[in-house]
Amino acid sequence: MKSKRLRTFIEDNFIDKGLFIVSNREPYIHKKTLKGTKVDKPAGGLTSAMDAVLKATGGTWIAWGSGSGDKEAVDENDCIAVPPENPSYTLKRVWLTKKVSENYYHGYSNQVLWPLCHIALDRVYFRRRFWEDYKKANHLFAEATLQEAEEDCVVWIHDYHLCLVPRILREKKPSLTIAHFWHIPWPDWSVFRVCPQSTQILEGLLGNDIIGFQIPLFAKNFMDCVKETLDAEINYAESTVIYRGQTTRLKAFPISIDYDRFNTTGHSKKVFGSMKKLKTKSNLPQYTGVGVDRLEYTKGLIKRLQALSLFFDKYERYRKKFTFLQITVPTRMNEPYISYQKTVEKLIEKINKKYATDDWKPIININKKLDHPELVAYYRMADIGLISSIYDGMNLVAKEYIASQADEKGVLILSEFAGAADELEGAILVNPYDIENFADIISRALKIPEKEKRDRMSILRRQVEEHDIYKWILDIFHELTLISSMKHNQCQYLSDHSSILKEKLLRHKLFLFLDYDGTLTPIVESPEKAVLSEEIRSLIMQLKERFPVAVISGRTLQDIRERVGIEGLVYAGNHGAEIWDGKKTFISPEFSVNVDQLKDFLDRLSEALSHIQGILIEDKGVTSSIHYRKVRIKYLGEFLNIFRSIANDYKDVFRITSGKKVFEIRPLNAWNKGDAVRWIWENLGRERLPIYLGDDTTDEDAFRVLKGEGISICIGCSPEADYYLKNQKDVKEFLQFLLS
Ligand code: UDP
Ligand code: G6P
Repeated sequence: MKSKRLRTFIEDNFIDKGLFIVSNREPYIHKKTLKGTKVDKPAGGLTSAMDAVLKATGGTWIAWGSGSGDKEAVDENDCIAVPPENPSYTLKRVWLTKKVSENYYHGYSNQVLWPLCHIALDRVYFRRRFWEDYKKANHLFAEATLQEAEEDCVVWIHDYHLCLVPRILREKKPSLTIAHFWHIPWPDWSVFRVCPQSTQILEGLLGNDIIGFQIPLFAKNFMDCVKETLDAEINYAESTVIYRGQTTRLKAFPISIDYDRFNTTGHSKKVFGSMKKLKTKSNLPQYTGVGVDRLEYTKGLIKRLQALSLFFDKYERYRKKFTFLQITVPTRMNEPYISYQKTVEKLIEKINKKYATDDWKPIININKKLDHPELVAYYRMADIGLISSIYDGMNLVAKEYIASQADEKGVLILSEFAGAADELEGAILVNPYDIENFADIISRALKIPEKEKRDRMSILRRQVEEHDIYKWILDIFHELTLISSMKHNQCQYLSDHSSILKEKLLRHKLFLFLDYDGTLTPIVESPEKAVLSEEIRSLIMQLKERFPVAVISGRTLQDIRERVGIEGLVYAGNHGAEIWDGKKTFISPEFSVNVDQLKDFLDRLSEALSHIQGILIEDKGVTSSIHYRKVRIKYLGEFLNIFRSIANDYKDVFRITSGKKVFEIRPLNAWNKGDAVRWIWENLGRERLPIYLGDDTTDEDAFRVLKGEGISICIGCSPEADYYLKNQKDVKEFLQFLLS
């Protein structure tokens, strides 16, 4: 359901604009092996999340080509279509020399910014050459982006590797919409001040229009750092920073996972089979726990192992009854990670040596990256999922564990220092530094009664289901769309101008024009489901007592009159071709329709499209609407191709326009909404100030008619409108404002 809403939103808003993702890590790595080239998917929250996003939206991902087989795989523009098995977006690779990647990636990114942001200050290791090459690499990423992105595109940068990219882009192409998502924590000023380049890092990031953080605390910390470092205007209440004329908005968007994917796999028979196999193969005892982490010091693996050791020491009854499965994925194989891996492995060995018996091991270390079904089998099997990060932006593993618990039996033990702890009520929180308490918590978790386990897990599952990756991206795209629209249009947010507007309205008598779908009611799956709320109906009833109100719709006149059901309004249906002026129906003078040709057109469409589900052909007698909101994304391209090729044969007879997941077919000479508004205004209230509220492309005809003469308001934003409102809540408030 949510993936559908996301798809719809993106197609409605981004279809003509390019979306560019820029990150250091690429989602698909070509590696040369003895058996030929193989394609790997790296482990890590960033690529897991963004791959799901781009698969749904399409676009271009710009990233470092770090694999040994990457160069051979791309075309002359360094691009390749991915995912390899079902290409849906473009990956453009950036090439870094060995020296630059050492200094920029292993150096400045992983040994300065990463430990700094995770408050692991003794691990910060700074060398001047790191910074020099960090600058160089950031320029290379920016150049690659500039080669592809036009001025009105949306560029979405990720993480700490690319702090300087936003400002470089802003200087070269000022009207780009630039966003950054910071996947890791942002520390407070007392920590961040350790960074020798704190000023340059902040200046770079303030080239963005918006920076997303995982939780509100990180956004606040960021503002504090700006306050201490730069001469910028900071508005804590609005969460904005103005620096060198550029406004940057800071906002928390907790990242998430594709809940349905993990949930479905969690319910699958295949996973059940894999669990059985795993249990037999490893001779697992009654209880198991699982940890899934990159081999990363911020994940607190040492603290976790110390706590497990104490647990086996203190709670002897769990020996031979509980095994902890630690999945560790090698990462950033350089110092300090190589040493960390050795320390972790030695500690596991030590614990196993101390407690293991002939037929039982306390800890099983699985040192490899698992694919999705295998991973879910481990999650699903484990009685407890354990996350012990000493600091973490979010931690997706926590959410994946929850989504995989098809039987709602698992218990999540979660570090209070992971961003996920902010939203995952129902998890048992732990301070990983307090290892004795940590050990007690593991024992307590194993004893929780079945009912309590289910209650906790069902709360957690609901939370993750409702706040999944699609909701995350939708929330971000809402912001991006508004920012982008505000940049490229003259359209301004009406609520920011209410006092000027009030003065104007007080000087005039008004004539209110209202579109229906998407304006008075939200856009819904199918047209018959769009019902006017009682609240809006009552507002319109009160408004019509003060000044004339007209409802202008693409629906048939009869349908719109019945749907709104208020006497004493003027109605226009079929996009303005039919008008009810309060007493009689009036058909636009130039109107004539070749009914046979329309029928022929619709018959051809329904035959050619019969194999694609989700298309609604609405025959409104003199016009028609082809709704495709419910068509699955993989059939969308095919639908569009078929529709366009048939429509081409009728372009001399019908005006065919596209709206929000709908094609409108109208006779060439039929009146549009602009013609209808002009007629109604001139004939029924010329002395009045017209105000028009609409949301779709067909409303733009009306916006154009009112240019300079009335007030046009778009729900969502349009280059033709004077103001915009964000949603139906804003519409309601505006109608209340008109009443007051
Ligand atoms: N992951 C994976 N296979 C593995 C281990 C981990 O695909 O064998 C993925 C895991 O599913 C998760 C990501 O790596 O999506 C780790 O993200 P998280 O936010 O937990 O931590 P990060 O690595 O980003 O610090
Ligand atoms: C974290 C970071 C990502 C990074 C990932 C894996 O999730 O926020 O930016 O991609 O770790 O690390 P790697 O260095 O292998 O890309």
